[in-house]
Amino acid sequence: MYKVKIYGAGSIGNHLAHACRCRGWGVLICDTDPGALDRTRTSIYPSRYGQWDDAIELATPEQASQGRYDAVFIGTPPDSHIALAREAIRLHCPRVVMIEKPACDPSLKGCDQLLEEAQSAGAFVGVGYNHVLTPHTLYAQELLSTGLLGQPQTIAVRWTEHWGGIFAAHPWLAGPSDSYLGHASRGGGACGEHSHGINIWQHFAHALGAGHVSQVHAMMDVVQDHGAQYDRIAQLHLKTDAGLIGYVIQDVVTQPPVKTLRVQGSEGSLEWHVNYDANHDAVIHAVDGVTTKKLFPKSRPDDFKGEVQHVHDILSGAVQDSPVSLYRGLDTMLIIAAAYQSNEVNKTVQVHRGHTYTPANITDVAEACLSP
Ligand SMILES: NC(=O)c1ccc[n+]([C@@H]2O[C@H](COP(=O)([O-])OP(=O)(O)OC[C@H]3O[C@@H](n4cnc5c(N)ncnc54)[C@H](O)[C@@H]3O)[C@@H](O)[C@H]2O)c1
Repeated sequence: MYKVKIYGAGSIGNHLAHACRCRGWGVLICDTDPGALDRTRTSIYPSRYGQWDDAIELATPEQASQGRYDAVFIGTPPDSHIALAREAIRLHCPRVVMIEKPACDPSLKGCDQLLEEAQSAGAFVGVGYNHVLTPHTLYAQELLSTGLLGQPQTIAVRWTEHWGGIFAAHPWLAGPSDSYLGHASRGGGACGEHSHGINIWQHFAHALGAGHVSQVHAMMDVVQDHGAQYDRIAQLHLKTDAGLIGYVIQDVVTQPPVKTLRVQGSEGSLEWHVNYDANHDAVIHAVDGVTTKKLFPKSRPDDFKGEVQHVHDILSGAVQDSPVSLYRGLDTMLIIAAAYQSNEVNKTVQVHRGHTYTPANITDVAEACLSP
């Protein structure tokens, strides 16, 4: 039985605790806010999963600063992720650290140190972009690997969902300004909160052998309200170093939500849907005038069971090249940082993906695409 520590007794902390308990793992959840620990026991966990589970330990950071854990999950606001991941490696010698998305805030502060420390401790660090691990993603990849779409021409992603549902699940928050969600500089806004969109674009570009994103041009609708400053709509045009172009639209205003990716090839197309209906993800491909739809049953808890299964597979040595490695998560973070910069200067931004992850990778601003 593996032993895990979860930082953050919020929405994701509860999902992960439940997914780990479903495997019979020992779980400790720690939170700086005693009110959050109390809510977990009396409200969030029982309302989602039927009843509280007495086997879960709840603790403050001081009470939970010692002991070895096989895996640590970081489920706190994005601007705390990197420091906590580094602390977890130092305190608990875990073999796996899984940071929730987005990896950090757009300053990328501390990322290089985390990469170095993880490497010297021999720990796997990942970022929980769990949609790359689902059965429908694996099925879509399998189809694409047969080459049935011909030459890839473009990838289009929409990850658009009104964030009212998030605030409904956090009734103690007065609004966006009260949390990281309303602060782009803390990893919130549409770019950070819905960064599954950018990540899945990169994931399928990778699966198609289409390279890494090297250019970003973004346009955003930025809101300033009660001290909050965030992008509520972010539209990104992307180009890879292999020449593939496409777009990602993320927003926190669309309802009902749309979470789709579409690959267009010279011989056909593939659509990938999250929450195609209330109980399914879906993949639809169309080649030679024939459209094939495959539905994949799933519930919200399943989203996190896949992530925990992946941690299990890493712990048992069954994973060689993880699609949720820290490198992949930081590749996504670089695009987020580049998008903010592009929106600010209204120019296409070059992304230099080197051995380091710092804002220096994106300071080279190209000539504006549409300059007069
Ligand atoms: N993969 C997904 O689908 C998914 C879903 C939900 C949230 N998330 C991500 O998970 C993270 C947390 O989101 P959430 O909705 O659970 O937030 P939340 O506000 O519900 O919970 C965060 C908790 O972290 C606690 N915290 C803050 N600093 C801490 C520290 N230093 N040590 C311990 N606890 C600390 C807070 O007190 C709070 O209770 C975000 O990065 C979010 O984007 C991912």
